[in-house]
Amino acid sequence: MRLAKRIEKLPPYLFVEISRKIAEKRAKGGEVVSFGIGDPDFPTPSHIIERLRQAAKDPANHRYPETIGLPELRQAIAGWYKRRFGVSLDADKEVLPLIGAKEGIVHIALCFIDPGDIALVPDPAYPPYSMGTVLAGGRPYYMPLTEKNNFLPDLEAIPADVLKQARLLWINYPNNPTGAVANLSFFNRVVGLARQHDIAICHDAAYTEVSFDGYQPASFMQAEGAKEIGVEFHSLSKGYNMTGWRIGMVVGNAGIIDALGRVKSNLDSGIPQAIQYAAIEALTGPQNSIREQNAKYQRRRDLVVDKLNSIGVEARLPKAGLYVWAKVPSGYTSMDFTNDLLEQVGVVVTPGIGYGKNGEGYVRLSLTIADAGLVKGLSRLAEWRNRRAGIKKKGHLT
Ligand SMILES: Cc1ncc(COP(=O)(O)O)c(C=O)c1O
Repeated sequence: MRLAKRIEKLPPYLFVEISRKIAEKRAKGGEVVSFGIGDPDFPTPSHIIERLRQAAKDPANHRYPETIGLPELRQAIAGWYKRRFGVSLDADKEVLPLIGAKEGIVHIALCFIDPGDIALVPDPAYPPYSMGTVLAGGRPYYMPLTEKNNFLPDLEAIPADVLKQARLLWINYPNNPTGAVANLSFFNRVVGLARQHDIAICHDAAYTEVSFDGYQPASFMQAEGAKEIGVEFHSLSKGYNMTGWRIGMVVGNAGIIDALGRVKSNLDSGIPQAIQYAAIEALTGPQNSIREQNAKYQRRRDLVVDKLNSIGVEARLPKAGLYVWAKVPSGYTSMDFTNDLLEQVGVVVTPGIGYGKNGEGYVRLSLTIADAGLVKGLSRLAEWRNRRAGIKKKGHLT
């Protein structure tokens, strides 16, 4: 048996490796507090579950769904975009439900990337942008996201020959893992670049519903001309705590939506209809749970950032998203620091290097940790600092 070469190019998914380490620690009797994966600890709101329960009982929903989703779901998505961002969408041509945003994010590469083509991908970034490119036989060109640029890519720094071979440009704000946000003027500049070089834009907006201090993240679709050159991926995972149900959407340019719909109709058989009805309820029903849980995330954000800074781990307050991006103390790589926290005090963080070369020097802490774990995790971070101070005193660490 010989596996295809493309499989060799795929690294193991970062979180699989982290889960393995946690399991190892637990097997040795260690208790672990995880700031690792960004999976909301709050349950899906009860009115959404109730709709799912009703829909699951209806035999009409036991049959194969359509790949393009129920018309009512596409309309609910278009209505939500109108209310939430003031963006008008044609529910039949400019909206496509997905089996979670990740599914569409990986598959869209098949619409643009022929072997050898380039996709412009931020670094650090959510890994599926580059993995989709690799699976399609393409090459990611990494655009560094640095603190100096507020974790926005420097569009002017992309070489002309790279722009010529690029078919696709990925952006993601509010950003995973850096917690950075982008405003409309940045999105307008991205549209300008796409027009000039005939590159399609894919914006991943999975975190727009998690925001703090009254900040309202923008949609890329609000930029002038965005629909001519791009699409936006969105998800019900983070705002409505529906990671386990697997539902998201892509909206925007009708030609791109049609191309992805064609790929998908050959790959999958749609989203279970009961889950589609739950999504309709999420998008059209009461929205107060989002405000309430954002207040809870904000409190966690403040506690985590305060604690990190107090133990000498520099962290900025993110305006949106589920993550705190913190600088590792000097003398450590992000992997060393991650391993040290796990081994010394049983705290799991994600090493920045897992998101790309420019993630080195940082770790990511997720705010999706319930209060009891949070309190324990924070006190263990303090314990780590005390142990380190003790080691330093004894002269083992410089
Ligand atoms: C930036 C980003 N986009 C998309 C997703 C996945 O969304 P979904 O659960 O809808 O597949 C994640 C999940 O962590 C993410 O961080």
